[in-house]
Amino acid sequence: MGRSLRVAPNNLSKVKAALKRNGFPSQSVLAMEIGLSRATVSSFLNGRPIDYLNFVELSERLGYNWQEIADRLEENFKQDAIQVNEADSAFIAGSPILHPRKFFGRQRQLRRLFDLIKRHPLQNAAVIGKRRSGKTSLLRYLEKITITPQEELRFNQKSDWLPNPQMYRWIFVDFQDPRMESKEHLLSHILNSLHLPIPDSCTLENFMDVVGDTLSQPTVILMDEVAVGLERCPELDDSFWESLRSWTSHYAGGNLAFILSTPESPMDLARHNGRSSPFFNIFGYTANIGAFSEAEARELISSSPIPFPEPDVEWILNESRCWPFLVQILCRERLVSIEDGETGDEWKREGLEQIQNHRYCLEES
Ligand SMILES: Nc1ncnc2c1ncn2[C@@H]1O[C@H](COP(=O)(O)OP(=O)(O)OP(=O)(O)O)[C@@H](O)[C@H]1O
Ligand SMILES: [Mg+2]
Repeated sequence: MGRSLRVAPNNLSKVKAALKRNGFPSQSVLAMEIGLSRATVSSFLNGRPIDYLNFVELSERLGYNWQEIADRLEENFKQDAIQVNEADSAFIAGSPILHPRKFFGRQRQLRRLFDLIKRHPLQNAAVIGKRRSGKTSLLRYLEKITITPQEELRFNQKSDWLPNPQMYRWIFVDFQDPRMESKEHLLSHILNSLHLPIPDSCTLENFMDVVGDTLSQPTVILMDEVAVGLERCPELDDSFWESLRSWTSHYAGGNLAFILSTPESPMDLARHNGRSSPFFNIFGYTANIGAFSEAEARELISSSPIPFPEPDVEWILNESRCWPFLVQILCRERLVSIEDGETGDEWKREGLEQIQNHRYCLEES
């Protein structure tokens, strides 16, 4: 969090009262009108620190000059800022899960994937799942879980998947990053991650010369959203993919594996994009990811800093059908409503509204 401010405790009641006075029937209406999240508005009205610019805007909407109502005691809100950061991220809906502590479930797929890369020769795999199913989160988790200190993980969270995790090199290629559309940029990115010299002109031939047969450490290249690479990047043609196949099959000494994420099987993907490269035949294992099991969803729900009543847990399981993204949204709504001391079922209406656009997960399931 950058510079942050909170409403001084002695101003809280008058700021809360200003909501209705200024024609906002609820926090949600104010949040919607101003384009901020309901969680931010709730933090503001409950005296928790929020970003400086949001603070100024909210103050003005409620008819105050921000300096009139802000708590000026910097030290006081530093500690709260840490807490609100944690509370804010209790549930993450939208961005991929980056910190392993916030990742739940998928133990079966993780066991299979780590099995493929913990022995020599390393083997390739594909992670298949529809939009918003958790593909990026899973790739990021693979990359980080074995090297995250135990004290940063949840109690009992397994991390000893690899015998020598510090030996491994992980390279993350995000095809949604427009820079990866350039073959030269992508190849340079791989060389850079391997701490190898980048030739002035990073053509496929030069790349292959540099990597040669130098791969002495186990290396895993995670390719996220490879479908985007095939659809949008004409530079990544059949000869590009063939070189990668040749590298892993003949020159890497069994020390290289690719793990792709894609919405359909690599072979179907190649076929639908008019590609014939045998690169897409080397994925001997596919991890399908979809809805959580009920136990996985319950574990995520129970990570709430304030426990939810069992009927609410049942409602969340039922409405989300255990899709992680939808579970996260509904949990976030429930948590905010509890923190605000709301008593009715307004959070359910809000939650259903929020998941409406993501219903395709449910419809197709
Ligand atoms: N294992 C998980 N544990 C907790 N939450 C998860 C997990 N996997 C996914 N989520 C939830 O689902 C959301 C989407 O995850 P992610 O971005 O990884 O999916 P994706 O399949 O890569 O999506 P896209 O198709 O948009 O690239 C996350 O913001 C998070 O709320
Ligand atoms: Mg993704």
